[in-house]
Amino acid sequence: MKLKPEEYGKVIPPPPVVLVSTLHGDVKNIAPFGMNMPISSDPPLYAIGVRDSRDTYKNILETEEFVVAVPGPDLVRQINITAESFPREVSEFERAGLTPLRSEVVRPFGVKECQSNFECRLEWVKQAGDHYIMVGRVVAASINDKIYTEDLSRSVINAVYHVNANDYAGKGPLLAEG
Ligand SMILES: Cc1cc2nc3c(=O)[nH]c(=O)nc-3n(C[C@H](O)[C@H](O)[C@H](O)COP(=O)(O)O)c2cc1C
Repeated sequence: MKLKPEEYGKVIPPPPVVLVSTLHGDVKNIAPFGMNMPISSDPPLYAIGVRDSRDTYKNILETEEFVVAVPGPDLVRQINITAESFPREVSEFERAGLTPLRSEVVRPFGVKECQSNFECRLEWVKQAGDHYIMVGRVVAASINDKIYTEDLSRSVINAVYHVNANDYAGKGPLLAEG
């Protein structure tokens, strides 16, 4: 069946949702992003697609740093709280009850409850339609001790996929919010 342009996005499998942490002064900002992917291994580069209305966009341009945190299915409720539009001076960390994790290299914090965190320094930004591709070089990364196994690539597979509105999918059936 042929689809209308506004339906195209619905049949593209969603990438796993990540949380992107940035700083505005001392305010710890965090928001979920579905548009995200690794785009180079050497050097390690990571791309996120961000609308210019987002505090995340403004904060990254201002500080040239961000942390990408990978949530597991246990954080669906928190993901939805961080997606609400709070004023720039409000920390979504506090609103969502997430614990800031001090980074090794950059100033923005990681998320303690997440499965892995990677610290990025902005390399370049390019407009792509209604979003901006913001590419960061990964300068440090860590995995949550709770899920660490020697086979690293099998440790962080419990991703969360955004289906629609408040519906998320994991490896198996649909996950209810929270
Ligand atoms: C699951 C999910 C995925 C999202 N993906 C994106 C995205 O890829 N790009 C984007 O600009 N906004 C995306 N959003 C919307 C932002 O997260 C939302 O507008 C948030 O309030 C932005 O926060 P900020 O203004 O603090 O950056 C997404 C929201 C949700 C719930």
